[in-house]
Amino acid sequence: MLKLAILGLGEGRSTMSAALQSKKIHLVKVCDINEELCKQRAKEFDFYPYTTNYDELLKDNSIDIIAIYTPDHLHAEHVKLALLHGKHVVCTKPFIDDLTKAKELITLCEQTGKKVFIGQSSRFSEPMKKQRKEFEEGVIGNLITIEAHYHADNRWFLAKEWSLLKSFKWLYGGLSHPVDFIRWYLPDIEEVMGYGMISTNGQEAGLKNEDTMHFIFKAKDGRVARVSGVYSSPTQPTKRDSTLTCVLRGMHGASQADYHELRYSVTSKEGEEKIIYWGDEKLKYYYRFEGQSHHAGEYQNYLEYFVDSIEQNFTAYPNMLEGIGTVALLQAMDRALKTGKPVKIEAIKSEYGIQSCVF
Ligand SMILES: NC(=O)c1ccc[n+]([C@@H]2O[C@H](COP(=O)([O-])OP(=O)(O)OC[C@H]3O[C@@H](n4cnc5c(N)ncnc54)[C@H](O)[C@@H]3O)[C@@H](O)[C@H]2O)c1
Repeated sequence: MLKLAILGLGEGRSTMSAALQSKKIHLVKVCDINEELCKQRAKEFDFYPYTTNYDELLKDNSIDIIAIYTPDHLHAEHVKLALLHGKHVVCTKPFIDDLTKAKELITLCEQTGKKVFIGQSSRFSEPMKKQRKEFEEGVIGNLITIEAHYHADNRWFLAKEWSLLKSFKWLYGGLSHPVDFIRWYLPDIEEVMGYGMISTNGQEAGLKNEDTMHFIFKAKDGRVARVSGVYSSPTQPTKRDSTLTCVLRGMHGASQADYHELRYSVTSKEGEEKIIYWGDEKLKYYYRFEGQSHHAGEYQNYLEYFVDSIEQNFTAYPNMLEGIGTVALLQAMDRALKTGKPVKIEAIKSEYGIQSCVF
């Protein structure tokens, strides 16, 4: 059984739960610089091997995979160190928060031959998996357009110190989920335009970057898509709306996956309408703690998929290149917010010397 260690025990709590419940993974050790948090997690899961020093994980030859859940701006360095120490890597989204280190990480990944998987959890939730499966089966026909949003009342998140740093952007932290849906179905995005602002709630809390944003994308084949993200405002009742949604409109039908509600609806090409709710059993699998701020079920799904990919030697997606593709798109969106003008993805890739990379 492959041996896993976890770095960062905030959201890494979900990964602890996922690894401890999985029959495919052996959790060896966890790490957080905050020793109080290490003790809290140890007690919560009755799992005591912890360290406050990342070096201990890196130097432990028994560890095959390091799963990284530190704040966004630290991912690049933590992934780099894991690869340099011969570990496979799971890195939560967003893979990196800036493309400066992209080329170096791609080269390192190739040189070490280790696998890097991006924990893009939303792809591994029940409604999104169903939507993808039915799309691939041709239930709605060829895709015409895709709309995705992530609208969450995340004012509670503003209590975290790093959320108020200049380096923290909801664009990366939040929009990486719906933007990943866009790339999952339309990988060849050529250009993006959009507008954003810091809401009055965000301003009062001292947020430094936009928490309210709307974007439009154009793919190389001319298809268009849209995404929006709103993070410091109240939301609608979930019966009426969903926080994280992906709508596909095809030639013969349409489908909608609602993430937190575990709800999926589709109009098939035969004109049949179907709505699925997965109910309590699945809700308990996906959301194991208070509220819905952690995503242990999705993490268990993707950790097991990643372990399979190592043991059976196939590529688990999103891999590093796909993760960087999403970050390139996010960076283009970031620039569109600053300039108020459409931005081409090729221009961003050229600036960072990764123009030859096919995402
Ligand atoms: N659905 C998802 O996939 C999902 C959901 C939430 C958060 N996340 C991602 O998880 C990451 C962490 O978010 P969070 O909400 O848990 O933040 P958090 O601040 O609660 O947790 C981060 C933890 O990392 C620890 N840490 C920082 N530097 C460290 C170091 N050098 N060595 C060891 N530990 C260190 C901190 O002490 C902290 O406990 C972010 O990248 C976020 O985007 C993903």
